[in-house]
Amino acid sequence: MPVPFLDLAAQHRPIRGEIEAAVRGVLDSQQFILGPCVEELERRIAVLCGTEYGVGVSSGTDALLACLMAEGIGPGDEVLVPDYSFFATAGVVARVGATPVFVDVDPRTFTLDPTAAAALITPRTRAVIAVHLFGQTADMDAVLALAARYGLVVIEDAAQALAARHGTRPAGSMGHYGAFSFFPSKNLGGVGDGGMVVTSDSARADRLRLLRVHGAREKHRHAIVGGNFRLDAIQAAVLLVKLRHLERWTESRRRSARLYCELLRAADVACRIELPQEAPGRRHVYNQFVVRCERRDDVRAALAARGIGTEVYYPLPLHEQECFAGLPSCGRVFASSARAAGTSLALPMYAELGEAQIGEVVGALAGAT
Ligand SMILES: Cc1ncc(COP(=O)(O)O)c(C=O)c1O
Repeated sequence: MPVPFLDLAAQHRPIRGEIEAAVRGVLDSQQFILGPCVEELERRIAVLCGTEYGVGVSSGTDALLACLMAEGIGPGDEVLVPDYSFFATAGVVARVGATPVFVDVDPRTFTLDPTAAAALITPRTRAVIAVHLFGQTADMDAVLALAARYGLVVIEDAAQALAARHGTRPAGSMGHYGAFSFFPSKNLGGVGDGGMVVTSDSARADRLRLLRVHGAREKHRHAIVGGNFRLDAIQAAVLLVKLRHLERWTESRRRSARLYCELLRAADVACRIELPQEAPGRRHVYNQFVVRCERRDDVRAALAARGIGTEVYYPLPLHEQECFAGLPSCGRVFASSARAAGTSLALPMYAELGEAQIGEVVGALAGAT
């Protein structure tokens, strides 16, 4: 039985009627940019995150970029970022003219190692971007303590972690800003690009709203230089429909993760591959279910031969990206992110994944490792 890595059609089929009605509503209204659907989504995401405000933006990347711009971070400033993440986490820092300072990750959770971060702080350090990688929050208690000590701005890159929790605190609510992505493969995915920033600081929310419309409070009057970071109404309407199902989908992902772990242990595969670990007190939402194994590329090929889709997130640590060559931190050794990049394998994971499909993947892994 083939098992696709991702199956967006399986998510769409049962809610197709609801989605089409929501899109028709926007078409009938002819209100395509911002407007009531976006405002409603902003309210609901803020409630979900336990924050005062949500500001809908054009993507997760622009969510991060707008946070840096809102803080006036730019040339001469340094921003701490984990060395192991999606490119945007560091790309946005370079785009505002600041310097990304790469930090090694925790070897178990793949998230930013706060002790390593502390050693890299200089008088130029302005902010830290903590990534809740694969759907599990970073070590936020330590990150927040470090940030408080050095007066740093904390941006949570929660693109993969909507509805994750750190103890009782929702992902996105702990720092000054939480940045989310609604890219179609995310736990709450639109029918195109979209994103949101959440914050409980009214001045920061105002500035983000201004930045997303080219810094114009009124037409043709630009108080600051911003961008076009607006979320469009069709995305918001679709996301509002999907949001009604998010909790059920999240629980389904968590059940699938437990089943993967049980079956991999029962098949004795768990001694040859490392399973993802949910740190105590955290609610992992498994945007990705990532195992680690030696001979990763051979294992991946063997699974592909049986029709099982996998992905490598991420094959190259950020400090090795060509565009960052020459940055001061590029010569350093990042043992954990290098190992993660060489051994990580993301297995099929989505709310609709069936038990038989999980059994199929585990059987294939047992044969391949
Ligand atoms: C960790 C992380 N940060 C940022 C982003 C950027 O989001 P987007 O693709 O919506 O721009 C993504 C999504 O791909 C991500 O996974």
